[in-house]
Amino acid sequence: MSSQKTQGGKATQVRKQIAVIPGDGIGKEVIPQAVQAIQATGAAVDFTDFDWGADRYLRDGTTVPPEGFAMLGRDFDAILVGAFGDPRVKTNIHAKEILLGMRFRMDLYANVRPVRLLDAALCPLKGVEPKDVDFVVLRENTEGVYTDAGGVFKQGTADEIATQEDINTRKGVERIIRYAFEYCKTHTKLDGSPRSKVLMCDKSNAMTHAGGLWQRVFREVSAEYPQITAQHMYVDALCMQMVRDPRQFDVIVTNNLFGDIITDLSAGLQGGLGMAASGNIHPGRTSMFEPVHGSAPPIAGKNQANPFGAILTAAMMLAHLGFEKESARIEAAVLEAVRQKKVTQDIGGSLGTKEAAAWIQKFLSS
Ligand code: NAD
Ligand code: IPM
Ligand code: MN
Repeated sequence: MSSQKTQGGKATQVRKQIAVIPGDGIGKEVIPQAVQAIQATGAAVDFTDFDWGADRYLRDGTTVPPEGFAMLGRDFDAILVGAFGDPRVKTNIHAKEILLGMRFRMDLYANVRPVRLLDAALCPLKGVEPKDVDFVVLRENTEGVYTDAGGVFKQGTADEIATQEDINTRKGVERIIRYAFEYCKTHTKLDGSPRSKVLMCDKSNAMTHAGGLWQRVFREVSAEYPQITAQHMYVDALCMQMVRDPRQFDVIVTNNLFGDIITDLSAGLQGGLGMAASGNIHPGRTSMFEPVHGSAPPIAGKNQANPFGAILTAAMMLAHLGFEKESARIEAAVLEAVRQKKVTQDIGGSLGTKEAAAWIQKFLSS
């Protein structure tokens, strides 16, 4: 946890401790750049690197070392993560154990994925301005089909059966829905206006058991927040609305799987996966921050990956740790880079990962 120096019994400086796990593929390119952006702000943080990922797994079979999660929770204030996924690890077991391991074992139940359009040129939709895309998806992060409950029977035979259970607990559903209403109450939009709507998205017309629980809990919790407008959409209809008119969204709360899917769709509104940031949060506990994108094997190691998703994730982490000013400076730097087209190819520029990140670092240091 935070180190504290004392002088005459008075605390003079608290440095936050950050665990850095770049992981695989482009994670190893973008995360060091995000770390350098943080350093350029002068924020009082220390970094400790961890080599958890495919290379280590292939080398010695380790995904998470013994007591790894306990160590992260005990010794660090936050965790900055890249991505996991490597074509050499077909089972994806290391991603499951490290990434989903952190989310599940550290109980990081709120996956916060802000969706913001920095410049109209980045949005594939016609006539959509930055003010039109400013919502957040709050994804339940510890339950659902991601628990991987189920099994395969009679594998390889004509009678093969595969089941994948969708686990939804009242506690799990209630805490993420409550988180959404509290988030709405305590956060403003980028233009400073208050957030006012929470929309719950499910598929309760087909998945009646789990959907029924979400519906009941949403009704109960929303009644405690009469000042906030409670809305509902089926996930299929929501996908269509997101493309047709993203202006209507404010705070969206949904389950683990739907949250995964709609946040890639939402990333598309922001300019693509290279622009999307996220936090995996349990209030009051060590939380984990990662860009929404994966390890992108085809572009890995080519200095092509957009580092802005990771850099905006670093800004999110700094704000979470109380470094509001430093966080705002990073966001302003990314916005300026986008405006001046000092960006990578995926969003219409000509810079490499390192060059785009270096521009940000220089902007922050000046
Ligand atoms: P991906 O996000 O890696 O890539 C999807 C597409 O977006 C690709 O075309 C890729 O080139 C592009 N892209 C992604 N990030 C980019 C960036 N920063 N700059 C420029 N382009 C970018 O998703 P995928 O291809 O479905 O998955 C690849 C691997 O990553 C898989 O093993 C998957 O399981 C894993 N994955 C991991 C995470 C994570 O660790 N959080 C998230 C998603 C996918
Ligand atoms: C994400 C990723 C992960 C998820 C994968 C890698 C398991 O797609 O963080 O969005 O589905 O949650
Ligand atoms: Mn995803």
